[in-house]
Order: sequence, then C-alpha cells, then structure tokens
Amino acid sequence: MHKQAFFTALLMAIISLVSLQANATPVDDPNYEYKDNQYCGGCHQEKLKEYSQSMMGKTPHDKVFQQFYFATNAKGEFDGFGYKGLHPNEPGDCANCHTPDKVLDAGHEVDLKAAIDGGSKGISCDYCHTVSDVKLIYDEKSGRYDTDITRTVTRARGDTKYGPLGDAKSPVHKTMLSPIHTKSEFCAMCHLNQEHLLSLSTYADWKKSYDAGKVTKQCQECHMPTGGKDRPIALGGKVRPASSIHQHLFHGGHDPAMVKKAATLELHAKHSGNTVTVEADVTNVGAGHTIPGGATLRNIILVVEATDSQGKPLTHTGGRKETLPPLSGKGGKPGDYAGHPGKMFARPFATKTGMVPAGGFNADHILFDTRIWPGDTDHSVYHFKTSDSGPVSIKATLLYRWTYKPLADKKGWKQTDIIMTRKQLTE
Ligand code: HEC
Ligand code: HEC
Ligand code: HEC
Ligand code: HEC
Ligand code: HEC
Repeated sequence: MHKQAFFTALLMAIISLVSLQANATPVDDPNYEYKDNQYCGGCHQEKLKEYSQSMMGKTPHDKVFQQFYFATNAKGEFDGFGYKGLHPNEPGDCANCHTPDKVLDAGHEVDLKAAIDGGSKGISCDYCHTVSDVKLIYDEKSGRYDTDITRTVTRARGDTKYGPLGDAKSPVHKTMLSPIHTKSEFCAMCHLNQEHLLSLSTYADWKKSYDAGKVTKQCQECHMPTGGKDRPIALGGKVRPASSIHQHLFHGGHDPAMVKKAATLELHAKHSGNTVTVEADVTNVGAGHTIPGGATLRNIILVVEATDSQGKPLTHTGGRKETLPPLSGKGGKPGDYAGHPGKMFARPFATKTGMVPAGGFNADHILFDTRIWPGDTDHSVYHFKTSDSGPVSIKATLLYRWTYKPLADKKGWKQTDIIMTRKQLTE
C-alpha cells in the first residue's frame, strides 16, 4: 500500500513537472500583432525616452541607411551608389536586421520599401522582448556562419515578454525569465553578417577576444549600462535596485562620450640635428571588440602634425607608408587628410573593378584591416626634417568617423569628426 502511494505521488510529481515545462515552453502565436513602442512606453516611460534617441530605435527611418539601400543622395537623387544601384530587381538582405518583423513574417528576404509601406515597426520593444532564442550557426569546415535571421531567431510572439528579471509582475502582460537577453549572442542576431565576406563581424570579433580572456564583459554590460537611482522599471512597479536596470540608449559610434572611452594615445619624439622621429601608440582600452568595430564604413584616423619654432610645418621624409590613404579624404577641403602623415584604422572593402569603399553586398575583398583589437596597441613611426635648430612641436589627433569622408561628400551626408583624444609635445 505504502509502495503504491509512493508511486502515485511520484507519478503526480512527474506529471506536474512535465506540465510546468509545457507552460515554460515558448509558444509563438503567428496571429499576434506587435505593439507600438508608444504602447509599451505608456508604462515603461524611461525605456521609451531612451530608446527613441537610439540609432536602433530610429531604423528603418534613418536617412543614411535608406540612402545606402535606395542608392540615393541626401537630396533624394538616384546616384547608383548603394544596394539598389547594383541590384535593382532584388530585395536584398537589408530588411533582415533593419525591419526584422516583416522578414520573419514573410519567412524570406523582403524589399525595404515593401517592409516600410507594410507598416514595419522596425526594431521594436515588442520585437526584442518576444524573442525566446538566438542560435549561432557556424560551419567549422568552411569557417562561415549562417546568419540568416529566419534560421537563427526563435520568436515567441504573444502576451509574454521575455526579459532578464525573473520575478516581474505586470498587469497587462506575462513575463518570462530569458537568459539569452543578457548574453552577446542576443545581439549577434544582427551584429554579425555573413555575405561573401563576414561583412559585419562585431560579434565574431568580440567572441574571439572573449574566448582569449581579453574581454570579460557581454555587449549589454557596455552598451546597456546599469546605474542611476534605485527606481521602478514601469509605472506601478516596485522600486528595484539600479544594478538591475539597463539603459536603452545603445550608445555607439554616433555618441562622442562612448567613442572617447575606446582609446588612449601616447606620443614620443626624438629630435637630433635636423631629423625628428615621432612615435605614436594607440591602445584599445575601452571596446569589447576591434576599434573601429565590425561594420566596414566606420573608421578612425590618427593625424600627426609637426611644426618648427616659427609654426611652419616640417618636411615629412618618411614616404607614403607613413601617410593617410585616399579614404581619409582627398582634395584639400577641411578634413581631407589623404597624403598627410598619419594612419587610418579601418577595414574597408573593395571590388575587383576597383570600387572603394564597397558595401558588404558587392565586396570581393578586404582592402586592408588595421583595426585595433581589445587590449592591443598599434605602434607607428613618422620621420620629419627641420631646417632650423629650435624646438619642434608635435601634435597628434585621433578622430572617429562613422563613415569614410569621400562617401559622405559624395552622398551629401553631414558628419562631424569626433576627437577621441589629442596629444601635443615640444622637443
Ligand atoms: C545582419 C544584419 C544586417 C543586415 C543584413 C544589414 N544590416 Fe545594415 N546595419 C546592421 C547593424 C548591426 C548596423 C550597425 C553597425 C555598427 O555600427 O557597427 C548597421 C548599420 C548600417 C548602416 C549605417 C547607418 C548609420 O547611420 O551609420 C547602413 C548605411 C546600413 N546598415 C545599410 C545596410 C544595407 C544597405 C543593407 C543591405 C545591403 C544592410 N544594411 C544589411 C545590421 C544589418
Ligand atoms: C500597463 C503597464 C505596462 C505596459 C503597457 C507594458 N508593461 Fe512591461 N511591465 C510592466 C510592469 C508593471 C512590469 C513589472 C515591473 C516589476 O516587476 O518591477 C513589466 C515588466 C516588463 C518586462 C520585464 C520582464 C522580465 O522578466 O525581465 C519587460 C521585458 C517588459 N515589461 C516589456 C514590455 C513590452 C515590450 C511592452 C509592450 C509590448 C510592455 N512591457 C508593456 C508594465 C507594463
Ligand atoms: C534586430 C536587429 C538588432 C538587434 C537584435 C540588435 N541590434 Fe544593434 N543595431 C542594429 C541596427 C540595424 C543598427 C544600425 C541602425 C542604424 O544606424 O540605422 C544597430 C546599431 C547599434 C549600435 C550603434 C549605435 C550608434 O551610435 O551607431 C549599437 C551600440 C548597438 N546596435 C548595440 C546593440 C546591442 C548591445 C545589442 C544586444 C543587446 C543589439 N545592438 C541588438 C540591429 C540590431
Ligand atoms: C534591441 C533589443 C531591445 C529593444 C529594442 C528593447 N529592449 Fe528592453 N531589453 C533588452 C535586453 C537585451 C535587456 C536585458 C539586458 C540585460 O539584462 O543585460 C532588456 C531589458 C528590459 C527590461 C527589464 C529591466 C531592465 O532595465 O533590464 C525592460 C522592462 C525592457 N527592456 C523594456 C523595453 C521597452 C519598453 C522597450 C522599448 C521602448 C525596449 N525594452 C526595447 C533588449 C531590447
Ligand atoms: C568593454 C566594453 C564593450 C563591449 C563588451 C562591447 N562594446 Fe561595443 N563599443 C564599445 C566602445 C567603447 C565603443 C566605441 C568605440 C567604437 O565605436 O569603436 C563601441 C562601439 C560599438 C558600436 C558602434 C560602431 C563601431 O565603431 O563599431 C557597435 C555597433 C557596438 N559597439 C556593438 C557591440 C556589440 C554587438 C557587442 C557584443 C558582441 C559589443 N559592442 C561589446 C564598448 C564595448
């Protein structure tokens, strides 16, 4: 009798365990319609305020993004430079990450115009918080990822919101503890793109450094920092410790304060007779991936200037390898540094026919890769000649640009150089 009671109890326990798991298994409701950010923001006001300012919150309405897709310039004229200039009759993969809702609904690539006209909500609160899993698909043999969002992302559309808390109670939606939301793999669904080249490599670059012990933080720890006062995360919610509240600004290459955290610069000079040798060390101290990151248009420029006691520029004798490439701007307009002593840190793409810079969608090869890895220092040397024996002044400036200047000029895009750091000395 006792035995039977024991087995009945065991059976009941197993049944309840199974049904608990069944409850916890994410269910995707294909008829669910994503809510607007405004709706979520009615209660999550701080989140809405922050997220609306972010680049991710602006896409697909970010003009630069659209103009690179439709191959138009800032005036709206077709200039052929961009995805549609080369592939007028194909949708392209651009909507995959910029309007993931419409692509996942369709189950295949969609045209960006169709996605926008079809009412895409972009990368919305509800999109991110109803993702239940992200898979990384990597083929050891070919060394290539499969980054197609229709295969990497598992959705659980419906009234359950996935997040990091585990004990959250909301009057209008259920909540579910989601460990993936606290991991870099969550961001990898979009910050990794395998085309002919690994055209967006940020996640892979982070992973390499993380596995090597050079980086210990997840993307969220730097790009969704915690802090401020203890406070509720929603109207009507209890006060939570600041350490559990994550900023939704997603600051990156468009935010001067973020960019300034990334690098330090050290400058040394030797002056003997009429020769001057300048050495510059740039170290990636703040980013969890290369600087600049894994998107091909981002670039960092070190500009080295040397002048004599009269303020006259010294003659540069170091040859072309010590000078900046055409991608730093040609033509003598302000901010054009091609031919000037210095170094560019970037990973520009090119085509066989000589198009530079190319996009991930038409690139055949990497022109050069001088990005600086986490913790690494780039060392560069510059040689000058001076005609008088007085002291010389050396100035070095490290600039960040979210796109190459020649492309910005061609497109009519306005960008302001961000001064990451600047050093000066007299020798
Ligand atoms: C795998 C996801 C993914 C795909 C596919 C994708 N993008 Fe992006 N796109 C991103 C991410 C992530 C960023 C931000 C990159 C960064 O800053 O490191 C970005 C940034 C951009 C930017 C820079 C915007 C700015 O304001 O600086 C442009 C332009 C752009 N994408 C155009 C395109 C075009 C055109 C296509 C299609 C040919 C495309 N993207 C396909 C994920 C993607
Ligand atoms: C009527 C108010 C209200 C609305 C509207 C609302 N929420 Fe919430 N939400 C809450 C409250 C209250 C909590 C729990 C607060 C707590 O426990 O500290 C919460 C918790 C959450 C959590 C945390 C889940 C976890 O376990 O980590 C997420 C994520 C979330 N909401 C996302 C959303 C999204 C996305 C929307 C829009 C589709 C939305 N919320 C709409 C009130 C709301
Ligand atoms: C659904 C796709 C998607 C997901 C998920 C995603 N991103 Fe993004 N992210 C983008 C796109 C697209 C852009 C570029 C938007 C633009 O400029 O038009 C971007 C831009 C950014 C930027 C650059 C902002 C700037 O100032 O240039 C940062 C930082 C960023 N994302 C961090 C993250 C982090 C951290 C995560 C994970 C918690 C994440 N992203 C998840 C698609 C995504
Ligand atoms: C690009 C994806 C993405 C978007 C868009 C997004 N979130 Fe989040 N959200 C996250 C991630 C990831 C976390 C967890 C970060 C962690 O714990 O490391 C999070 C955490 C939260 C939390 C839990 C509390 C906290 O601060 O950690 C709430 C509530 C929340 N988000 C609401 C929102 C609302 C409301 C919006 C829209 C205004 C929104 N989110 C937009 C990715 C996103
Ligand atoms: C240790 C902190 C740290 C970690 C971890 C980190 N980042 Fe960054 N990230 C930075 C800093 C600092 C910058 C500004 C420098 C720059 O733009 O290169 C930056 C820039 C960016 C940018 C802007 C454009 C650019 O130049 O690349 C994107 C997008 C981005 N990070 C995404 C990610 C993603 C995705 C992850 C995780 C796979 C991640 N970051 C991990 C600190 C970090």
